[in-house]
Amino acid sequence: MSTTDRVHLDQKGRLVIGDHAEVVRLAHDPETFSSIVSRHLQVPNGLDGAAHAEMRHLLDPFMDADAVAQLLPELERIAADLVARLDAADAPFGAVADLGARFAVRAQSAWLGWLPEWEEPLLQWVADNRVASRTGHPRATAEIADRFDAIIRELLRRRREHPRDDVTTRLMGLRHSDGSALRDDELVSILRNVTGGDLGSLALCTGVIVHWLAVHPEHQDHLAAASDADLDAAIDEILRADDPFVSNRRRVTRQTEVGGCPVHAGQIVVLDWRAANRDPAVFVEPDAFDPAAHAAANLVYGTGPHVCPGRLLATGELRVLVRALLTAGRIEPAGDPEREQAPVAGFRAVPVRLV
Ligand code: HEM
Repeated sequence: MSTTDRVHLDQKGRLVIGDHAEVVRLAHDPETFSSIVSRHLQVPNGLDGAAHAEMRHLLDPFMDADAVAQLLPELERIAADLVARLDAADAPFGAVADLGARFAVRAQSAWLGWLPEWEEPLLQWVADNRVASRTGHPRATAEIADRFDAIIRELLRRRREHPRDDVTTRLMGLRHSDGSALRDDELVSILRNVTGGDLGSLALCTGVIVHWLAVHPEHQDHLAAASDADLDAAIDEILRADDPFVSNRRRVTRQTEVGGCPVHAGQIVVLDWRAANRDPAVFVEPDAFDPAAHAAANLVYGTGPHVCPGRLLATGELRVLVRALLTAGRIEPAGDPEREQAPVAGFRAVPVRLV
């Protein structure tokens, strides 16, 4: 098979697509490029067609602009508190482990209504999940997924005993369009998708953004004073150039072509968001910081029917955290950053200090 720089076979023999136009085309053709790629239930990301649309219809309102606006004061409080503690310690800290991961767990717990007692087990899980993702061993990743499921099942059990007025309880009350209640395995899968994966993504996004700010001090003042919209655009652009959310898979449903390569039914192809976000055919200088010029083609949150429903929530969370940091002081590097190891992107460690 003849491949190019932007379409290649990986070690597992999967066709990886980093060509921006092809990634967009595939993401918008779910009939030919199905999201049913796993034998495990994945709600909503591993669903297609009507079943997928039904779940998005149920879930999207939990993460829409109104939901995020309601949560913002709490997010601001969490960010201010975390940054004040790090600032008061007057010592270097890790933007991924000390700031991003902890903020992600607290912010997602505030959104879902989870009690502080879950913070340490969740943080431990985020750290172990990254180790398992680095090794890529199916048994390690299955074990870590089972551990998360056990945490969620215990949460659901306790919530049934003591219902509260929060997002988790409301998710548990959702009904399919035929009136049937969501099964426990569907709820576990939903909660896994809106927490498990994204706790890690938010921590990695924080590392990428804080690293960029530390090595681009000339942008710190104007971003500290920027409007929400301008700060959001800057964050999206920083993440585009160094996207820590690497890829998603699709299963080919019929004989066709991708990037000039023939593909057959059943074959797995990989949408490489990270490479597509740096495709020089679209972003002539991929490292240039140009939020206005690059926004329309930015694929950090995906595109098509599976486009990230958590985008506004993630953006709001990252915005309040960055604002809290920039308000507290100047961000300076405090040592060498350590890159993550493929297949994970972003940074393992970003030592910084606030001055
Ligand atoms: C932190 C930064 C985040 C990034 C970079 C990100 C990125 C993405 C991307 C690229 C997709 C598309 C997947 C595909 O096409 O197969 C996606 C889907 C998804 N994201 Fe996010 N996401 C983030 C945060 C969040 C948050 C905070 C939530 C929820 C609270 C969330 C929930 C989801 C869900 C449920 C899906 C599956 C949607 C579907 O299949 O219809 N994400 N995300």
